[in-house]
Amino acid sequence: MQFSISDQKGVHIPEELFGLFFEDINYAADGGLYAEQIENRSFEFLDCYGDRGDYYAVPDYGYAWSPFGEGEPGKMQYVTGSPVDPKNPHYLRFTAAKAGQGFCNRAYRGIFLEKGKKYRVSFYARTASYRGNLTVSVQKDGRVFASAAVACVLAPEGTWQKWNRYETVLTAEEDAEGAAFVIALDRAGTVEFDFVSMMPCDAVDGVFRRDLVEMLRGLKPGFLRFPGGCIVEGNTMENRYRWKESVGRPEGRRANFNRWAVHETSAENGWHAQYAHYNQTLGLGFYEYFLLCERIGARPLPVLNVGLACQYQSFERVEVEDPAFDEFLQDALDLIEFANGSPDSPWGKVRAEMGHPEPFGLTMVGIGNEQWQTEESDFFARYEAFERAIHEKYPQIRLIGSAGPDVVSPRHTMAWDFYRKKAAQKENFCHAVDEHYYMEPEWFFDHADFYDGYPREVKVFAGEYAAHPQKGMNNPRANNLEGALAEAAFLTGVERNSDVVILASYAPLLARAGYAQWSPDLIWFDEKTVCATPSYWVQKLYAQNRGDWTLRLDGQEKELAGEGIFVSASLCRESGEVIVKAVNRNPEEKELKIALAEGLSAKGPVRIQELSGRPEAFNSVEDPNRVRVSERMQEETDSLKLPAHSFVVARISR
Ligand code: AHR
Repeated sequence: MQFSISDQKGVHIPEELFGLFFEDINYAADGGLYAEQIENRSFEFLDCYGDRGDYYAVPDYGYAWSPFGEGEPGKMQYVTGSPVDPKNPHYLRFTAAKAGQGFCNRAYRGIFLEKGKKYRVSFYARTASYRGNLTVSVQKDGRVFASAAVACVLAPEGTWQKWNRYETVLTAEEDAEGAAFVIALDRAGTVEFDFVSMMPCDAVDGVFRRDLVEMLRGLKPGFLRFPGGCIVEGNTMENRYRWKESVGRPEGRRANFNRWAVHETSAENGWHAQYAHYNQTLGLGFYEYFLLCERIGARPLPVLNVGLACQYQSFERVEVEDPAFDEFLQDALDLIEFANGSPDSPWGKVRAEMGHPEPFGLTMVGIGNEQWQTEESDFFARYEAFERAIHEKYPQIRLIGSAGPDVVSPRHTMAWDFYRKKAAQKENFCHAVDEHYYMEPEWFFDHADFYDGYPREVKVFAGEYAAHPQKGMNNPRANNLEGALAEAAFLTGVERNSDVVILASYAPLLARAGYAQWSPDLIWFDEKTVCATPSYWVQKLYAQNRGDWTLRLDGQEKELAGEGIFVSASLCRESGEVIVKAVNRNPEEKELKIALAEGLSAKGPVRIQELSGRPEAFNSVEDPNRVRVSERMQEETDSLKLPAHSFVVARISR
């Protein structure tokens, strides 16, 4: 098998081509990237039920909390009246009948501690009829792994005092798994608590789980699309994502139920599914998303609600003609001011007061998530209203449209007709159109040429894609090598067509094992381990070996695809290397002879990175390293061995 690489440049590969799509699904935010260890820290959780058009949430303010101690338990009451912040009105009133009684938090599957590591604990408390102190600890089966005494500020006898914020640091004496977080009183009395938090001291910016941030950084992401996904839309207008409620001090961010709490509800389960308590504290809010972008070197790409609740799950919307629709437009303008405005502007001031006087450099905004046009949704009119409002004030902001939930239906064709027609009439009408496709691996192999014939005038954002060899909740097997190779094959076509596909992101990004509503996902994790899937390795290989220009193959890709080999070639400006990417989907090894054009004159050596194995092989938090990239150097510059079922990246020195 042979192919020749021309020294003629094809298309320029945009720097931000490969990016990330973050959605708070699968406990990606609370219980995931947000390093908070305590579940339901502000006593606001809701238990969610329902079906399309009829969702409801029942208060369960004590969820994840229980009394702790031997014998008769202390009394736990979830009350309101004078909260720390009225946006989160409930708090715990705890009464101990004797010394040593306390309460504990289940913290998802229990607290995980690493010996020697430090954890910052903070909470608000108010005392009345209590003259003692508190002990904060992490324990399991009577064994204490970390503890600290906290001296209470005492109110004058018989009076309530104002809320005091307490802070202490726990140091883990040993490793611990599945432990309880406990606060105990050292004598009888009543104390009220709110915003009980425990964060590892090594959390990035005091907010993000360090190991997960490292994984994201490893992908060298060009951009970060956030915060969804369907959570932007909500199951109802009530639980849609409102960015303004996600900024300012965390105590004032109104907790809400997560759209994925009602995933897979049915008559059989009483419209109450496995993750009915999936809530959002918004501890990870828009300020933190922008900060994360800085930390991982990605351009921010926030997505806005356009007055529509999830088109799959709801009939709710605010009509474009309704004066209430203006609030959605205003949210867009204010968001741009929040990100880029001077600290003297109202929203720039909010950002500055949160600790970031410099602008975040927002250049792109997503108008709606996965919206499509129907007579009722009238999405196109919504897009036009946003476009007018935003460009009137901020003509340089680049807007992302939506082509709906698939690339094979009339919804998709209709969307493209709309954007192409409008873009011909108005400059800068749409920077790129967001396409979503979750398909079987076969589709990805068969459509490696998907973008070859795309008209070039409006660009594509492949905003959510993934090969689905299997699906289901909590299914790491769905992330097998076969799926990853299908994605790698498809991406040869994305790279070749990166004059039209200018942004691309796999979806979803994160999944907490045992808490995932959707599989496959790019990165699996639990409280202890982070696991790169084969798809993660594919993304990483693409991002780290992007190249600046494609080199022309003039149709040879098509012939090779017929033989189950998918190739791309590009040139790295800085090093001068030729980068070859090749997928072999065959069950036997293939040898690929490479003829480089004279102008490319290779000297070698060649650095080879390779991902290969059984098509059904997968990684999991229990066994995270079954499939991984191996590396080697070779001297020959004119031949590549492609193992059975493999993705090989070769960097040829010149
Ligand atoms: O990525 C999971 C979901 O898929 C997203 O929330 C939505 O945009 C799409 O339907």
